Amino acid sequence: MDMLTRLSTLTAELLQKTWPEAQGLPNAEELRGLIAVPPNPEMGDYAFPCFRLAKALRMGPPVIAQKLAAAWPHGETARAEALNGYLNFFLNRGNFAAETLQAVLAAGDRYGAGTEGEGKTICLDYSSINIAKRFHIGHLSTTMIGNSLRRIYDFLGYRTVSINHLGDWGTQFGKMVYAYKRWGDRETVEKGGVDEMTRLYVRFGQEAEKDPSLEDEGRLWFKKIEDGDPEALEIFHWFKEVTLADAARVYDLLGVSFDSYAGESFYHDKTGAVVDELREKGLLVQSEGAWVVDLSEDNMPPCLILKKDGATIYATRDLAAAKYRQDTYHFDKCLYVVAYQQDLHFRQIFRVLEKMGYPWAKDCVHVSFGMVSFGGEALATRKGNVVLLDDLLREAVEKALAIINEKSPELENKEEVARQVGIGAVVYMDLSNNRIKDIDFSWSRALNFDGETGPYVQYTHARCCSLLRKAAEAGLAAEPDYTSLTDDESQALLRLMGRFPDVIREAAEKYEPSMITRAVTDIAQAYNKFYYEHRILDGEPAEAAARVALTEAARNVIRVGLSLIGIEAPERM
Ligand code: ARG
Repeated sequence: MDMLTRLSTLTAELLQKTWPEAQGLPNAEELRGLIAVPPNPEMGDYAFPCFRLAKALRMGPPVIAQKLAAAWPHGETARAEALNGYLNFFLNRGNFAAETLQAVLAAGDRYGAGTEGEGKTICLDYSSINIAKRFHIGHLSTTMIGNSLRRIYDFLGYRTVSINHLGDWGTQFGKMVYAYKRWGDRETVEKGGVDEMTRLYVRFGQEAEKDPSLEDEGRLWFKKIEDGDPEALEIFHWFKEVTLADAARVYDLLGVSFDSYAGESFYHDKTGAVVDELREKGLLVQSEGAWVVDLSEDNMPPCLILKKDGATIYATRDLAAAKYRQDTYHFDKCLYVVAYQQDLHFRQIFRVLEKMGYPWAKDCVHVSFGMVSFGGEALATRKGNVVLLDDLLREAVEKALAIINEKSPELENKEEVARQVGIGAVVYMDLSNNRIKDIDFSWSRALNFDGETGPYVQYTHARCCSLLRKAAEAGLAAEPDYTSLTDDESQALLRLMGRFPDVIREAAEKYEPSMITRAVTDIAQAYNKFYYEHRILDGEPAEAAARVALTEAARNVIRVGLSLIGIEAPERM
């Protein structure tokens, strides 16, 4: 049982015993939400604000606090003092250290894991790249936030379904096939990959400006794709393969994978049923020749379903996708990790699903995030200053290798570590802010081994590993006296580790991986503070063994935390 649960249980028992007749007193679970960490450590490790009881007990908070302090079972867990209407708890440091360490060490790599998700399914739509387009840095956030959320939910026992909802449908593919047939050749595309496809698409645009009849050709070829013409389909599928092979390199580097690549084209033959259903339910109205769902009651522009020419759009396919996911996976939640620019799109989609009478519409959530800019400049695809993700990652690995060559020239697997550190730096930077905030990417900040960075946390982990190796070499085998860890530095570290399982749950609830990034950073900083203030391997063997155990616990928690945000933890660096 963690400390907060213990304190709230004891407090609940005490309330019950002191005022057995009183109505409306908070139970242990409610108390858990009320007991907080006071801003000033002199006011205790935890505090319970008694004004929350004033109404139920018809008594002033200071009196309540005093009565509770007098009756509190001082001893094993904590002593309690009354101050200004607060009941302040001072933990029994020795016992607290022993319990926390035992819990962390027993759980190992499963510390903080849970079973609360058992029997529940979460669909996560993330990364969702577009065919024939390069993976640019804008896709980093969706990929990494989605990947982290998936890991977090897995850790809590949910069944997760990760979906790459490919952007692989639309008239642009007709244009691309036409351009390929007219100006391209197989070998160049095979070699040039997505870049070559982009070049063909740009060429189409330029030529079509001179000769507008090309637009018809583009439409014709898209129609062929729609109708399943073998030649058109063959080229289109091959474009998809080439794009996905390109993306696979990035996914491999990032350690990201998907259960499904069902994208927009997958829903092409499923939109008809949605349109029929909308019509039957009386939701479809004509507007300027197109078919829409009116959302004026909800203060939103209408949701376009069928264009004038009868073609479906992005939204139509998303409606079909949501239904398909519910029918196939019976999700308890479906998360869409997509940039905030699509806020309106998802509000419309979710509202339309609600109007269709689907109660699960409320379980669809748009997990939106801000923009990544580079040196203060937004990344506009059209301006040509696109930072491509694989270039960025390659550069990160190179820079990390240069630093490692300088700092630890004799390291054995330098290339491997450089990959882990370089990628870790980028991922950490991306997941270090509240997701809705814009991120200004900076190399000097990302790769700083001393700042709040991925390499700093990884370095702390490697430091713990190195210390554990030294302890093993020294043959330190004494039975650890955990209760000796009563100093401020150990206690601060233990408290952060003790709270870590709660952080995971809060991050899951708020769809906010950055809370875990924050927590591992705090733990790394607390460990380093402890490391500088104490000679870990010296002194009384039982006490040294306890400091080694604390080091092992810190290593475990940092490793768990990093893995939940999708960052590897090298043992040496
Ligand atoms: N392919 C889209 C883009 O890059 C994102 C798709 C998000 N998922 C969805 N179901 N709409 O903008």
